[in-house]
Amino acid sequence: MQIYQHYSENGLFSSKIYHFTTIDSTNEEAKRRAETHQLQNFDIIISNEQSTGKGRNNKDWHSPLGNLYFSIYLNNEEVNKINNRAYIFNVIAILSMHLAISKLLTKDLLLALKIKWPNDLLFNNKKICGILSKISQNNSGEKSKEKFMIIGIGVNINNHPPDELLNNFKATNLQEIGVNTNNIALLELFLDRFFTTYQKWQNFGEDLIRQQWLQYAHNLNQEITLSLEQEIYRGIFTGIDQDFNLMLQLPNNQIKKIGFCEILAIES
Ligand code: BTN
Repeated sequence: MQIYQHYSENGLFSSKIYHFTTIDSTNEEAKRRAETHQLQNFDIIISNEQSTGKGRNNKDWHSPLGNLYFSIYLNNEEVNKINNRAYIFNVIAILSMHLAISKLLTKDLLLALKIKWPNDLLFNNKKICGILSKISQNNSGEKSKEKFMIIGIGVNINNHPPDELLNNFKATNLQEIGVNTNNIALLELFLDRFFTTYQKWQNFGEDLIRQQWLQYAHNLNQEITLSLEQEIYRGIFTGIDQDFNLMLQLPNNQIKKIGFCEILAIES
């Protein structure tokens, strides 16, 4: 394992990057280190591959060599700042990854990169990045009861799972769209944007972040289908409210709000 330090462009923030060649899951390693108080705010665990990478809804996240797999640690103080609004760090993270990948795209490709609510990145309707995050509580030692958040992010750089392993969506990777990069280079681009977006949020509040998110939203003002646990809804995706609920205009013109955590799958 190698360790590097990454400083934000204005020098105000820094992350220690713990770089593994192989590991079970960067989310699990971050959790183990967090529970034994070995991490500081914004530290990163990255691995070249994962043997048991996890995706949302209990799915496996296929993690061979060639892609980006990493987790960010946020400490108790950060978690307390957001109260019940845990989605805000997911939003800052997906927005920052959108900005990082955009930096690598030629102008004509920029419009193809979209954020799919709640927190995936799509390129031409195909998934390129996903986020799995969790808030946990320490239950040992003098820092017991302190909370922490782990945000795990996977980006397909050189390969992606074959269609038959994916349920209702297709995937792609950066190389396929003509972008050459590697996991550390993309992580560093991401971190610079993560710190800037985080500071924007601190200085100007959530609304600015929401506006920016909406600029890149997939299927905004279009008809979409949402599958929740019990029901399927079809309607127009008209926007995101102040609590980051998705607003769906149903055929009877009623607005149905769907919470960030409620979502199990979105087909569109
Ligand atoms: C999704 O289902 O879209 C979320 C995928 C999240 C994958 C990342 S890869 C790094 C981190 N470690 C994991 O085991 N999962 C996340």
